[in-house]
Amino acid sequence: MARQLDLEAHQAMRIILLGAPGAGKGTQAQFITKKFEIVQISTGDMLRAAVSAGTPLGVEVKDIMAAGGLVPDKLIIALVKARIAEADCTKGFLFDGFPRTIPQAQSLLKAGITIDHVLEIAVDDEIIVERLTGRWVHENSGRVYHLRYNPPKSPGIDDISGETLIQRADDSEATVRKRLSVYHQQTEPLVDFYRELELYNPETAPHYSKVMGDGSMKDISEQIFAALG
Ligand code: AP5
Repeated sequence: MARQLDLEAHQAMRIILLGAPGAGKGTQAQFITKKFEIVQISTGDMLRAAVSAGTPLGVEVKDIMAAGGLVPDKLIIALVKARIAEADCTKGFLFDGFPRTIPQAQSLLKAGITIDHVLEIAVDDEIIVERLTGRWVHENSGRVYHLRYNPPKSPGIDDISGETLIQRADDSEATVRKRLSVYHQQTEPLVDFYRELELYNPETAPHYSKVMGDGSMKDISEQIFAALG
């Protein structure tokens, strides 16, 4: 009975995962979505799929992403609104990489989309540069590996599908540094935005918490589960 109640409580969980590029959002998203049985909505993965498929959206955003800039708010907000209207989101979802600007966060408020938790994963910039330049990705699933910290069982091969891993076009050191600068200017202000929202609207605003993302992946997920209650 307790297990059933536990699952019911988890089912409508809506979470925003906030953090710099390479903070470990995608890595931790895999553990969180499994535990709470919710879907992951990664705007980065959705945009990369559009680029690979050569859709009009993909063509429009390809160069912006390769240069480490942010895709215009209007395009992102439309993409996210369409995604959360899909049936698999009714039991909850995890935003990974959205919102990334104050207007994107305001669009959620205006649309009346309630969020339970905003969870920030904080990591120093120099650690991030090392992480992203050593990252390998399974493109179809979004599974992430690191040459040193989380290597696949066979080099260059996804553990589950056996398919080839790739390195992302925006993971060169120069582009990572550009992405970090964009993060500090345009996304980090969301920390104060959500802290203040909770301060002035404690009953309705999402609960904000922060975990330090420098440590073992397992320790970090334990801190995250504790923060999410
Ligand atoms: P997106 O795909 O969202 O990329 P990002 O935010 O830059 O984040 P990353 O996926 O690079 O990192 P992550 O935090 O998920 O880290 P990971 O778990 O992989 O966005 C890409 C682009 O799309 C943007 O630049 C922008 O152009 C556009 N875009 C997307 N959303 C947008 C929006 N809302 N608005 C406008 N534009 C948007 O981990 C990184 C590495 O570290 C891995 O190799 C991993 O194995 C390793 N690692 C993870 N945890 C640990 C640990 N604890 N110890 C050691 N290594 C670790």
